[in-house]
Amino acid sequence: MNSISTPISIKERVLVTSALPYANGPIHIGHLVEYIQTDIYVRFLRLMGKQAIYCCADDTHGTPIEINAKKQGMTPEQLIAKYAKEHQQDFADFQIRFDSYYSTNSDENKHYADLIFTRLNEKGLIYQKDIELTYCPSCGRFLPDRYVKGTCPKCGAQDQYGDVCEKCNAAYATTDLVEPYCTVCRSAPKRRTSKHYFFRLSAMAEKLRAWLDGNASLQQDVKNFVFRWIDDGLQDWCISRDGPYFGFLIPGETDKYYYVWLDAPIGYIASTANWCRQQGGTAEDWWQSDDTDIVHFIGKDIIYFHFLFWPAMLMEAGFNLPTHLQVHGFLNMGKEKMSKSRGALLTARQYLDMLKPEYLRFYYALNTPAKLADIEYNLQELRERVNAELLDSIVNYLHRAASFCNRFLDSQVDAVQEDETTHQVDALVAQAIEHYESINLRDALRAILEIAGIGNQQFQEARPWKLVKEDPDAARAIVSKAVNIARILTILLKPVLPDLTERYERILGEKDLTFRDIGWHFAGTINQAEPLLEKIPELTKLQAAATTGTSPAAALDLRAAAILEAKDHPDADALVILKIDLGSEQRQLVAGLKKHYPVESLPGRRIVVVANLKPAKLRGVQSNGMLLAADHDGKVMLVDSSESPVGTPLTFSDMTPAPVADLDIKDFAKIPLQVVRGKITCEDKTLAGASVDAPDGANVR
Ligand code: 2FM
Ligand code: ZN
Repeated sequence: MNSISTPISIKERVLVTSALPYANGPIHIGHLVEYIQTDIYVRFLRLMGKQAIYCCADDTHGTPIEINAKKQGMTPEQLIAKYAKEHQQDFADFQIRFDSYYSTNSDENKHYADLIFTRLNEKGLIYQKDIELTYCPSCGRFLPDRYVKGTCPKCGAQDQYGDVCEKCNAAYATTDLVEPYCTVCRSAPKRRTSKHYFFRLSAMAEKLRAWLDGNASLQQDVKNFVFRWIDDGLQDWCISRDGPYFGFLIPGETDKYYYVWLDAPIGYIASTANWCRQQGGTAEDWWQSDDTDIVHFIGKDIIYFHFLFWPAMLMEAGFNLPTHLQVHGFLNMGKEKMSKSRGALLTARQYLDMLKPEYLRFYYALNTPAKLADIEYNLQELRERVNAELLDSIVNYLHRAASFCNRFLDSQVDAVQEDETTHQVDALVAQAIEHYESINLRDALRAILEIAGIGNQQFQEARPWKLVKEDPDAARAIVSKAVNIARILTILLKPVLPDLTERYERILGEKDLTFRDIGWHFAGTINQAEPLLEKIPELTKLQAAATTGTSPAAALDLRAAAILEAKDHPDADALVILKIDLGSEQRQLVAGLKKHYPVESLPGRRIVVVANLKPAKLRGVQSNGMLLAADHDGKVMLVDSSESPVGTPLTFSDMTPAPVADLDIKDFAKIPLQVVRGKITCEDKTLAGASVDAPDGANVR
């Protein structure tokens, strides 16, 4: 069994944050590792009866945002407004629910940045110093390390960035580069001296060490890193930048701004203030109170900022320190690390165009242990694990329990008597909760899957579908137990799968269940079971869907064809068997035309065939494809292709076809084909080379 650690949060109120994404690009699935686990944790806390709020914001300041806005012909304000909207839509579609999603470019953030700066200054922790920097005269700006390249001063490798050499790993200043050039305009920069503000981090080493020492919940490997940095000696931190810069002016200055990393974490406080403005109270109620825990979720690339600068600022400015910082690893796709700086490999939107959010939430949770680890993203593995563990083990069980109860027990459930199974399940429930409490989502799900395993096994062994005839009381007891287990699973899964579990709550006739509702007392009438979630289809189809982009009709391989022969199906009244000519080949199809066309009228007709439909047997007769027909009030009309030579591939207006191999009939049914003015349309596209004599709005299948 897995060892269980102490809960992260013990107080009644918890403020939880995720790192603020830069308002400079789309959310990708690497970002979602963090937002999904934070969302799960916050939902869990709330379901445990705590007052938990989830605050986040866009990180809007800095040179890249200023430069990119200019490149795109926008103001920085326009650029960040565009991403604010996009980011929030992406998060909402992944069922990530913030209590406050704000912006670092806000009045509140300016207020708290000035307040903290002033307090640090009053304590003598801020001083000014002249430093030499790299300046591009033709751009008229100082160049941060990502905007200057040159030859590594140590190993001579060319084209290295201004901070560290990718060849030999040497770290240096932009002014150390040999033959530097500006990455914006390619001209040679100069050295220029400028006065800057510094925060005396060097004076904070012992206080930071004491804070780390006294915090038992922090991940040990992360602590070890940080101790090593402290042991090596902390450098003072430059917290200002020269204009042009998108950020807040430093009080008393005309062209010097706070460095983005100064006001970014202060955005956590500003976002809390935003929530308080709407819900009551002040940010200080959360950041200076004894009965509030503060938990930050961050990635391992920003440990330095969150374990050194940020706590140092907080402790000296009179705010509480985080109770806990949960650090996660990167998302690896094969050997590629998916990081913010490398750019997105798969955006949140691209994923959503292809797959349901539930799958990724579940997959990430399965791969989120308490300790710092990278996640491997592998679509094949995601599909296998989600189909086996979420669909086969859990969703299928929930559905069976409810539908069996509907069918055989008149939807009536009884409460369950304690026995060995209930004790076993109770112990696993306790384990799942303890794992959630220590943000060990992987082991929480393992415990939940074990409960589903017990439920499945009992159901299978008791065979209630047989028992119902022999011993109805025993069958009722078994099914009641199954429904009670399904209900417990539902509650335990609410943090991970909020929408799906809400749908199951409706089937149970319940609402807003919490962890306090876990038990064996559930009795009464349930509603009709409905499908909750389908399996992930084969990857070839997914990939095709991902590359064909917008129109689902691109997945079709449509051809003009001619009927050669037609005869009655021997075992089905409505079906006919057709031999058709596709130009390059002849095929057999089975079609439901008997009631609509006399069989003898069919040969010679020119039709449209979906040539890539998965072959199937219809009442024992092989059918290799399907013909298109319009259906209006039960009347079926064949789509006619006599205007196109037999064998012509038929396509929709300006759509590049990307036919999928072995298209499933269910996927075909999802493609919205309709008749408009005698033509077949899909959304705003029209199929060329075929027509049908059916009224507008008739469906085509
Ligand atoms: O690394 C990043 O993406 C930063 N935008 C994170 C900021 S977190 C907090 F400090 F604001
Ligand atoms: Zn330049």
